[in-house]
Amino acid sequence: MRVVMLGPPGAGKGTQAVQLAGRLGVPHISTGDMFRQATQDQSPLGQQVRSYLEQGLLVPDELVIQVVERRLNEPDCQKGFVLDGFPRTLAQAQALDRFLQQQGQPLDAVVLLEVPDELIVERITGRRLDPQTGQIYHLRYNPPPPEVASRLVQRSDDTEETCRRRLNKYHRETEPLVPYYQQQGVLRRVDGTLSPQEVTQRILEALGVK
Ligand code: AP5
Repeated sequence: MRVVMLGPPGAGKGTQAVQLAGRLGVPHISTGDMFRQATQDQSPLGQQVRSYLEQGLLVPDELVIQVVERRLNEPDCQKGFVLDGFPRTLAQAQALDRFLQQQGQPLDAVVLLEVPDELIVERITGRRLDPQTGQIYHLRYNPPPPEVASRLVQRSDDTEETCRRRLNKYHRETEPLVPYYQQQGVLRRVDGTLSPQEVTQRILEALGVK
């Protein structure tokens, strides 16, 4: 199954994409994770994207499209994937459509996680990551076990100011993808304000996964 997770920053795309990919047995592909890893490794890609990430700005389309197409060409993506954080602009969505059309493997579904803006800042500023396992926690909604608490880190773009800029970018650049995918008949709206377990359940129902 080929699925895209769509939604504002902090909507729970990463949290849910991990669950869904595990359930479907397909890779979870997060452009945000790929860029953060590249930045950490100080690779040429990392040097190109660092300032965009730190400021909460979008990485240029050509660069993101190149990175994603290279990843989707890898053998493990042949049976499907869960894309998280891509596409984020109309140009990216059109490029993805062209790429998948050439492969004769169109998208099965786009899951839109709906969370109102007023919840987003709290979710983002309370997020903590375990650098050893990649596990995502929230200080209030998904508190980490005491034994990992001391090694948790906060993303450098998880400040309130950067979060508001990312939210603004989402409304301007990414929200137009909602009618785009609705017209294609692949959009599945899911209430992202429920508990993480309930959201997972709704997503599986929306996708018809037993
Ligand atoms: P990216 O990493 O994709 O960031 P994002 O889209 O802003 O999304 P987040 O990772 O912040 O949130 P999420 O929806 O995954 O939520 P999460 O599950 O963590 O991108 C980062 C940057 O990379 C961009 O700003 C840009 O610069 C660049 N970039 C990436 N892709 C790009 C592209 N395609 N084009 C251009 N630039 C690109 O959850 C958030 C918190 O809430 C966590 O603490 C979690 O525990 C908690 N939580 C989750 N679900 C629930 C729930 N149901 N109830 C309560 N709490 C919950």
